[in-house]
Amino acid sequence: MFSDPDLLIDFRDVELIRGGTTLVGPVTWQVELDERWVIIGPNGAGKTSLLRIASALDFPTRGDAFVVGEKLGRTEVRELTTRIGLVSSAMAARVPGDERVSDLVISAGYSVLGRWREKYDDMDRDRAADILESMGAEHLADREFGTLSEGERKRVLIARGLMTDPELLLLDEPAAGLDLGGREELVERLSVLAADPDAPAMVLITHHVEEIPPGFTDVMMLSEGAVTAQGPIADTLTAENLTATFRQSIAVTHDDGRYFARRARRAGGHRRAE
Ligand SMILES: Nc1ncnc2c1ncn2[C@@H]1O[C@H](COP(=O)(O)OP(=O)(O)OP(=O)(O)O)[C@@H](O)[C@H]1O
Ligand SMILES: [Mg+2]
Repeated sequence: MFSDPDLLIDFRDVELIRGGTTLVGPVTWQVELDERWVIIGPNGAGKTSLLRIASALDFPTRGDAFVVGEKLGRTEVRELTTRIGLVSSAMAARVPGDERVSDLVISAGYSVLGRWREKYDDMDRDRAADILESMGAEHLADREFGTLSEGERKRVLIARGLMTDPELLLLDEPAAGLDLGGREELVERLSVLAADPDAPAMVLITHHVEEIPPGFTDVMMLSEGAVTAQGPIADTLTAENLTATFRQSIAVTHDDGRYFARRARRAGGHRRAE
């Protein structure tokens, strides 16, 4: 069985089962090169677990998962890591506090975390500097990672994720822990990246519809491991689907490319006592 070469992610009835519990699935999902996906759902819905399969860190228990055209379980995983950029707090937690930012970004090409520097050449250094600049982080190049603010860390990690020129960029809650200004800056940078035709296909996990960068195209909603809705954001990010996903009445509004959600007031609820 082969996957369509234009699909960066091609999951067919994928399930991830651990200790007898289905954490994810069944999920059937396709991501094309020019698509930018958002995954949204409550805590424990299986979002990170799904992304672990998309980043080839986990293989599905059932079903077929193709990532960047390769069937998981067959390809050398090491070979895939340079083709997939992953930004997550789990990955950030493994970065030594004294790692120099420029080394952290450059080392992405070598699939190594740490201070393994011998092989970097000038081309790597120039590319890392350009990517850090595109994320507004060029002034941080000589800093130690452990001294950066949360927002600065996120921008540096995204730069690292882009260093290998991956076909697929996976972002697990990149705006978590950012203040309002930091979140807005990140949303804007991701929006610019989303509009770049040379940018990789992207999948971004978030808890907040306010964090969806304009230009992102599609959304998957997950609840208890199962897909409650998926498709183009404009048609799919509805109050009805959010309500089913979060199991409480949610209202959503849309303004200037951004989305805003809150708990819906029950129609006529205040009149019930009359
Ligand atoms: N290795 C594992 N073994 C057993 N259960 C696991 C394992 N990894 C994750 N889980 C469970 O699977 C469920 C989904 O976890 P996951 O981290 O994918 O959720 P999530 O949607 O990313 O949640 P959050 O929004 O809190 O990050 C959770 O109930 C979690 O406890
Ligand atoms: Mg998670």
